[in-house]
Amino acid sequence: LSSIEVDISAIEPGQAIKSSWRKQPIFIRNLTAPEIEAANKVDLSALRDPETLADRTQPGKENWLITLGVCTHLGCVPLGAAQGEIKGEYEGYFCPCHGSHYDTAGRTRKGPAPTNLEVPEYSFLTDTVVKIG
Ligand code: FES
Repeated sequence: LSSIEVDISAIEPGQAIKSSWRKQPIFIRNLTAPEIEAANKVDLSALRDPETLADRTQPGKENWLITLGVCTHLGCVPLGAAQGEIKGEYEGYFCPCHGSHYDTAGRTRKGPAPTNLEVPEYSFLTDTVVKIG
């Protein structure tokens, strides 16, 4: 199966890019320190799909949130990866189709999405290049 390599060197903290892999959108986001803190202070028992930020990122690379850009409700592309798009009530991503809100770890927090945004298989080839798939 095909994989892609993405240069992430230009993604500043607080920014994200959209890429695509196997015809699906991928969001690669460089979380700010406050966004990491917000994700880490959530009580897991409050989550519909309980996962920590550490579960969803790689050790030492907790700031890099890499997910599919596909809402887990019915597959729309959530907003929040591109500059200026609304990020929803939990400052992560917002799916306008039926109003699902995701937090800064890409976890479902409000609305119909049953599960967190999916984290694809990926690895860091260098500090600035990620291989997805
Ligand atoms: Fe995203 Fe329904 S497809 S909320």
